Amino acid sequence: MSRGMISGARRPSWFFAFLIFGSVRSLSPSAATGQRIHALYAGYPQRYDEYHQALQEAFKEMHLDVCLTDDLSESPESIDYIIYSPNGPLKDFSPFCNAKVVMSLRAGLEGVATNPTLPRTVPLTRMVDPSLREGMVEYVVGNVMRYHLNMDLLWRSKNAGEWMQSESMPLARQCAVGILGLGELGGSCADALVQLGFQVYGWSRSPRDHEGVLCYHGPTGLGQVLQESDILVLLLPNTPETHDIINRDTLAQCKPGIRIINSGRGSAIDEDALLEALDNGTVAGATLDVFKTEPLPKDHGFWKQPNVLITPHIAAKTRAHSACKVIAENIRRAEAGEPLLYVADRDTGY
Ligand code: NDP
Ligand code: OXD
Repeated sequence: MSRGMISGARRPSWFFAFLIFGSVRSLSPSAATGQRIHALYAGYPQRYDEYHQALQEAFKEMHLDVCLTDDLSESPESIDYIIYSPNGPLKDFSPFCNAKVVMSLRAGLEGVATNPTLPRTVPLTRMVDPSLREGMVEYVVGNVMRYHLNMDLLWRSKNAGEWMQSESMPLARQCAVGILGLGELGGSCADALVQLGFQVYGWSRSPRDHEGVLCYHGPTGLGQVLQESDILVLLLPNTPETHDIINRDTLAQCKPGIRIINSGRGSAIDEDALLEALDNGTVAGATLDVFKTEPLPKDHGFWKQPNVLITPHIAAKTRAHSACKVIAENIRRAEAGEPLLYVADRDTGY
């Protein structure tokens, strides 16, 4: 069962239908107060129209009567739910003194999980949705296949007009992929890679049991995954513990010629150490979607590295249509007094 998910995942679907429809009658307006529900959209301002429409549709589907605004100054004390994104305007949560839940439109919670103006008593949820998962699986599998099939080398020989003499193509079962971060996204990528026949190693903070995956955890398990992996995928959140987890010491433990894909957070990599490892061949290639500073500064060494592919933080994007269903479902749950989906742990920061 996913972290933060409600218990009862094995209950039959009629049970959930009963829960949903059983609570709907009392949910419009707010079940607890008999008043209309007030929600604030504090996401990226340019996407308000798109979110407004998707949210209204999702609220209607759930029979929720919600008054939605994007105006931060419009009686903040009346706001029940805050729909939040770090690229939105909201930095100070203190005027929203009656907020019941803050719902992030992002999977990563850096910045908001530790925001001192957000009381710890207010639950913070993160975004887990099918389109985010699909996007990440496609990005990771696509780039793992690119490395596995030596496509970069083939491009280079094509550009040089050379017929590359080669052994037969390797098979997935001859290639080990390590995934650092075996959560919602890492776990889904692991499933897809296992399905293709790769030997998959996973690493998490706490012990995990994931079908088809050789699971390791904690500081002692990391070395094992690094030594075994031909390709390493990073899907870790940005927390103090994951900061620079890929550094000179851990790079020295990797299989020589390892390829690295980072679509989690840039904070996980010591960028100077990676540049050094790319220069001396310890790391044969890197596909980087996330960086310490975004956009990546024009004079950064990664731009000139021939073995680095840079993508502009596009591995997986929150899509309004599916994300708003998650938001509406959590409002429904909160109003019905049911456990929320995907609640973050404010201590670990993810
Ligand atoms: P989850 O919270 O579901 O999973 C995080 C995983 O990382 C868990 O397995 C967790 O371990 C593990 N982890 C956390 N801290 C440590 C640690 N100190 N040591 C070892 N393992 C650790 O997150 P998601 O899978 O949903 O997302 C992962 C990250 O991907 C997000 O935080 C976000 O930063 C990034 N992301 C990037 C996107 C992009 O477009 N580039 C898009 C969406 C997300 P445990 O299982 O024990 O809790
Ligand atoms: C996220 C992201 O955290 O887009 O959702 O990186």
